[in-house]
Amino acid sequence: MKKNLVWDIPVRLFHWLLVLCLFGQWLTAEVLEDAMDIHFYIGYFTLGLIIFRLIWGFVGTKYAKFNSFIAGPKAMLAYLRSVISKQHTLSIGHNSVGGLILPGVIILVGLQAISGLFTTDDIVYSGPYYASADTDLQQLMQWLHHNVFDILLAIIGLHLVAIGWYLIFLKHNLIGPMLDGKKAVAPKDGIEHSQLIKAILVMCLVAIFVYWLVEINPPPIEDGYYY
Ligand code: HEM
Ligand code: HEM
Repeated sequence: MKKNLVWDIPVRLFHWLLVLCLFGQWLTAEVLEDAMDIHFYIGYFTLGLIIFRLIWGFVGTKYAKFNSFIAGPKAMLAYLRSVISKQHTLSIGHNSVGGLILPGVIILVGLQAISGLFTTDDIVYSGPYYASADTDLQQLMQWLHHNVFDILLAIIGLHLVAIGWYLIFLKHNLIGPMLDGKKAVAPKDGIEHSQLIKAILVMCLVAIFVYWLVEINPPPIEDGYYY
């Protein structure tokens, strides 16, 4: 069967940019010395990515939308049984269980990025809202920033195991479609195009919002706050 477009360009860009950004955030925080300023910039960009994908989940193309794959517990159980028994028909978009990665990642990466805004390295760099938060909030955010990333790593591990399971046991390559967007489905089941104009408009609005959030809105730091 001829292949047709299923994953739009914004979904694929979001996915691979997110992978790069999370790797970059780990690298700039845990491996490289003196890279906190880059950590901040990638963090702001990642926050923008997450907000974009949240909005695209409501206004994007057919299989990008949350309502195309979010299902109740009954449907998820039936799906899990089908995967184990190998009586499995490939979903066109996300399946009801695998799709949970999206809300999971939006919540966790969102928490990671927002808590970063209130975090300090206790040396030179502090997020733009650190100085205006009270001590309890600073501690909570610092705790979140140090612990949410580990939960995220566990979920990413599960995600990769699931994709490996599909590849090895179910003989379905899900990775190719996340690269070129196409699957062997009937033309009526594919999407016509990526709705790029709408995506660019949403991206611009998100970029303006993030700029306002991290550059314009943070309260000025009082003289002598850090001394
Ligand atoms: C930092 C690591 C990763 C994160 C946070 C992540 C996150 C996600 C998210 C959020 C989605 C849903 C995409 C959407 O609807 O917008 C997704 C789907 C997908 N990811 Fe990843 N991913 C990661 C790494 C990878 C890697 C390394 C691969 C390839 C080996 C991969 C392959 C896929 C595939 C094939 C799908 C589509 C699954 C399906 O057909 O339902 N991911 N991933
Ligand atoms: C989604 C985006 C982000 C990810 C994945 C991320 C990840 C991390 C990780 C893994 C660490 C090391 C934590 C540890 O040592 O236990 C860290 C530290 C840090 N991050 Fe982020 N971060 C993100 C966004 C941000 C943002 C937006 C800011 C500030 C604007 C920020 C500020 C900091 C600071 C100041 C530290 C140092 C904390 C310390 O030394 O105790 N991060 N980040």
